[in-house]
This record gives sequence, C-alpha cells and structure tokens, in this order.
Amino acid sequence: MASEGKAPDWDKERDEFWIAQDFETSARLHVQHWIWQFQLAYALHPRIDTSGGKPLRVADIGAGNAAWLLELTRLFPSQESVQLDGFDITSSNFPHAAWLPSNLKLHTWNAFSDLPSEYVEAFDIVHIRALNSTIVNNKVDPMLVNALKMLKPGGYLQWDENDALKLACNVPDESVNADAATTITKMMEVIMKYQTHLHADWLHNMPETLRERGCEIVAHEVTEAKKELARATTDNYLLVWKDLIRMIPEAPMPLPPGMGLPESMSRRSFSDLVRKAVEETAKGASLTMPFHVTVARKTS
Ligand SMILES: C[S@@+](CC[C@H](N)C(=O)[O-])C[C@H]1O[C@@H](n2cnc3c(N)ncnc32)[C@H](O)[C@@H]1O
Repeated sequence: MASEGKAPDWDKERDEFWIAQDFETSARLHVQHWIWQFQLAYALHPRIDTSGGKPLRVADIGAGNAAWLLELTRLFPSQESVQLDGFDITSSNFPHAAWLPSNLKLHTWNAFSDLPSEYVEAFDIVHIRALNSTIVNNKVDPMLVNALKMLKPGGYLQWDENDALKLACNVPDESVNADAATTITKMMEVIMKYQTHLHADWLHNMPETLRERGCEIVAHEVTEAKKELARATTDNYLLVWKDLIRMIPEAPMPLPPGMGLPESMSRRSFSDLVRKAVEETAKGASLTMPFHVTVARKTS
C-alpha cells in the first residue's frame, strides 16, 4: 500500500482496494442500501416504465453484495417477469448463489474494461449506485459508455450517487462541538481533490453528458438527506473513516496550508481524530451528503 509519509496513489490502488474488501464492507453496504431506500422510498425510479408486458432484464453495475438487486426481487416477485444480473470487479461481497433466487446472477467484471459481447443491448434497465470512488479525474466515460452499450434502444439508465465533495458536518445545537469531525471532513475534501483526484464535475454534468450521448433525461433529482437519517448516514461515514485509518501513512503526511487543517497527518493522529469524531457524533454531530438520482432513456 502507500509508502511512508506519502498519500496513497488512488489511481493505481483503487481496484486493489475494492478487491480486498471483506464482511465489514458488505455489512456497511447493507446499511447504505437501507439509507438509500429510506431517502428515496423507491429502488426503481417511478418514471421508469416497466409495463411493457415482456420479461425485463436488469443489470446492476458495481453490485456489491446485491442489496439493490435483492430489493428488486421484492418488486417483481414473479421470477419469470425479470432476469437480474449484477456485475462487480470482485465477488468478495457476493452472497453464495445458493441463497439467491434463480433469476438473480452475479458476475465478476471490471466495468472500465471491454463489455463482453453477450451483454451488448441485452438490458431494459441498467442501474449504478455509489461508484464515485472509481471515477478518477472525472473519467466516467469507459463505465458510462459500457452502461449505455448494455441497454437496448429505449432502455433506462438509473444512476444514484452521493456527492462526496459536499460532505457536511452539522450540529443539533451550539452545545455540540464538532471540531474533529469538521477537520476530517475538510481533510477528506483536500485528499479527494488533490491526492486521489476524485472530483464531482462528472456528477454535476451527468444530465448534459447523457444528452450529448443521445439520451433523453427522464428525471434528475438532488436532495439533502432526510433529518431522520442523521444517525444512520453518520454511522455509515464513520465506518468509512475508520477503514481509511489503515490507508493513511504511518509517517506524517503534509497537508496543504491555509485550509484550516493541521500541518500534517499521520496514521496515529488521524486515528485519534476519528476517535474524537466518534465522541462528537455520539453527542449529536452528524455527517451527510446530498443524494443525486439521474434517470436517462437511450433513444436509439
Ligand atoms: C460503494 S460500493 C457500492 C455497491 C452497490 N452499488 C451499492 O450501492 O450497494 C462500490 C462497489 O463498486 C465495485 N467496484 C469498484 N470498482 C469497480 C469496477 N472497476 N468495476 C465494477 N465494480 C467496481 C466495488 O467492488 C464495490 O462493490
């Protein structure tokens, strides 16, 4: 992983990071799924027309532990009415096939690589959720192009994403101190922008990009997290921060000046900060990011 005192090179390490995930990631993804469901109150956007009469074929790119696809099995209880395919760079979070319905299949595939020919124009709906950490330097194209290639003409793409660069730390009232959580929030923004090169322009430009690629925008919704989700979103992001401790170098890593951040951060000082942030959030400080949903229809 990262050499001492140097920030990790995310562009090189992101695939390794995801492939090395384990049950804690899967558990966190179940919580994250519950959060999305609470926020949106739908899995499939209501403007996606599924009334065609023919069996539907649905793909989920970066399916993780298939939480979203399993939600769809409840929307379409008849197994003949839908075929569900999940794709992920790693199978480490997949439930065993024995626990899945026979119309839900999971496949290992890197969504930035060539699309196997059997999946070209094979799907009525393609879904993507929470893949922002894979999009370095706004290079969304290889995955977006594959997603559109997978769709039949007239098919729908639904892309759900949190705007990670707008992570905000809120307090319920002035008695709650959130200094540590605010420092980590700022530090995350700096790391994302300048070290891991995770930007949000691609997300903000998504409707325009899809229009340029010949799609009709069916829905584009940006919402702030519901108040009732304050604890759940916070717990979920704290798990990410806790997991990041192992990626921060042991030797102090310099941080850019003039941004209200400490001069440097080591694994130890970051770990201390996370511990303090946990104390603050237990008193009510909360972490949230806006929710983006874009639904587009492939016109030809
Ligand atoms: C934050 S998780 C989201 C999982 C799922 N979409 C959800 O919302 O529950 C990101 C997922 O993307 C997968 N992933 C990362 N890079 C990928 C790639 N290049 N191709 C396909 N999947 C990838 C990871 O293995 C992980 O399961």
